[in-house]
Amino acid sequence: MTADPTRALAPVVRLAPAKVNLTLAVLGTRPDGFHALHSVFVPVDLADRLSVAVLPPGAKDILHVDGHDAGPTEDNLVLRAIRAAREAARPEWGRPEPPPALAARLEKRIPVAAGLAGGSSDAAAALDAALEAWGVTLDASTRHDVAARLGSDVPFFAVGGPALIEGRGEQLTPLPWLRGDLAGGDRPGLLLVTPSCGVSTPAAYRAWDEGARVPGGAARMASLHLAEELRKGILGVADLVTRASVLAAANDLAPAAAVVEPGLVPFKRALLRLLGRPVGVSGSGPTHWALYPSHAEAQVAADLVRAAVARGDVVAPGPREPFVAAVRILAPARATKGDSA
Ligand code: C5P
Repeated sequence: MTADPTRALAPVVRLAPAKVNLTLAVLGTRPDGFHALHSVFVPVDLADRLSVAVLPPGAKDILHVDGHDAGPTEDNLVLRAIRAAREAARPEWGRPEPPPALAARLEKRIPVAAGLAGGSSDAAAALDAALEAWGVTLDASTRHDVAARLGSDVPFFAVGGPALIEGRGEQLTPLPWLRGDLAGGDRPGLLLVTPSCGVSTPAAYRAWDEGARVPGGAARMASLHLAEELRKGILGVADLVTRASVLAAANDLAPAAAVVEPGLVPFKRALLRLLGRPVGVSGSGPTHWALYPSHAEAQVAADLVRAAVARGDVVAPGPREPFVAAVRILAPARATKGDSA
């Protein structure tokens, strides 16, 4: 489609959800230096908010960030995504000058360097919002390639629901969500606890390369099994919660995150003692999660953690108190129709 020059100049707004890894198996190192993964990603309803508006001719892209500190603005993936979108949009744009500059405003509600892919989600949202602001449509494969070049986790956010991730993150298989979820019954809730220390993803992969691994391939088995059960549509909410201990153990980057940030070891032990249920790690950490049969139960647990942090019974590494939230897993849009228990 060619760009429509008569489009209204109202800002385009996107929510950029966080993701949680229910499983994360690192299968090996690839020739390009990245790692081959097998991972079940789920989007959750903790989201950044991005708005973009078209600027007059001659202006430069600008970004204003509120909320969690996301580091230097000029390095922000939102600006890189807008530039990549502009480059990719040129053939469709069909005019000699490039698509105009954008003013972007980002409200960071997702903790940074947390294993929640907040920056990648912002990039996916920026790509989408920029194209919308310019009135340009890209074919799915071009969009996917632009997303994959921005970062390994970026393509996932175009799926709009749980997905199996393979390769370095570019191979995506959308997964149907739980049987009975959204059909009026309880939906699973996730408690997220993110120490403020942050863990750099490259540092966690480096620690894995240097031997911070669990032998035995349990994460791979658990990941294959979960993806297959979700694909077949045979898992209900209670089944997922029953599998929590297997899933919580199924993250090959958890030992690496604990090497990068040794304070995560006593932190996790304290959480386990407090919650009395399995505690997993998302991505390369330091976000820890616990799965509950309902959002209400996850909220009770969140209050329990906040109180324990205030008392000093749970000590999280990092300069500030940990971020604590109860969130819902976002099911794919199609599961809202005719999905029954
Ligand atoms: O792709 P992205 O920029 O998000 O990756 C950040 C870093 O994480 C990479 O530079 C690489 O060190 C590591 N990584 C990896 N294998 C993946 C994804 C990320 O080694 N599948």
